[in-house]
Amino acid sequence: MAQFQRLLVVLILTAVLLVVAEAAGDPDTSGCRGLTHGRYSRVFAFGNSLTDTGNAAIYPPTAGGTFTRLPYGQTYFGRPSGRASDGRIITDFLVEELKVPQPTPYLAGSTAADFVNGSNLAIGGSTALEPAFLEARGVTSLVLVSLSNETRWFQNVL
Ligand SMILES: *[C@@H]1O[C@H](CO)[C@@H](O)[C@H](O)[C@H]1NC(C)=O
Ligand SMILES: *[C@@H]1O[C@H](CO)[C@@H](O)[C@H](O)[C@H]1NC(C)=O
Repeated sequence: MAQFQRLLVVLILTAVLLVVAEAAGDPDTSGCRGLTHGRYSRVFAFGNSLTDTGNAAIYPPTAGGTFTRLPYGQTYFGRPSGRASDGRIITDFLVEELKVPQPTPYLAGSTAADFVNGSNLAIGGSTALEPAFLEARGVTSLVLVSLSNETRWFQNVL
């Protein structure tokens, strides 16, 4: 069991930092107004609380969690920002470095226009593997969302 749990941790860690930056098209034909600051036009992020910039704060089972209250966000944003951090997380640093706008957290948008700057599909507590797979091996997920949900959300956005 301990061995399985170690494997699980490794699998989760490899999944959390998957961030995809979409290459910018020709500025004249892309039709993406204001999105051609650099080589990339927008970011799509997948993962858990290490990359989530607002989904867990909206998702009912985790909304209102301690990370949505001060002192979270006090040091950098000056207010709770929906991140499980007192400041910026890896997604923020990548977005700054790539010179692209912040992607909209998936649960914060509903129309195509909401996702013109990409989307953050990551959600705090998410697992790489399916909750049912984990449950069958005695591992209870904190939230019942996995990478397969995030890839479906990504397809919805597209
Ligand atoms: C997209 O990014 C642009 C440029 O930063 C910004 O003006 C606009 O409000 C953003 N739109 C959305 C839906 O996030
Ligand atoms: C995640 O996927 C599972 C299995 O397909 C589904 O039952 C569940 O409703 C999804 N959760 C969310 C939050 O979309």
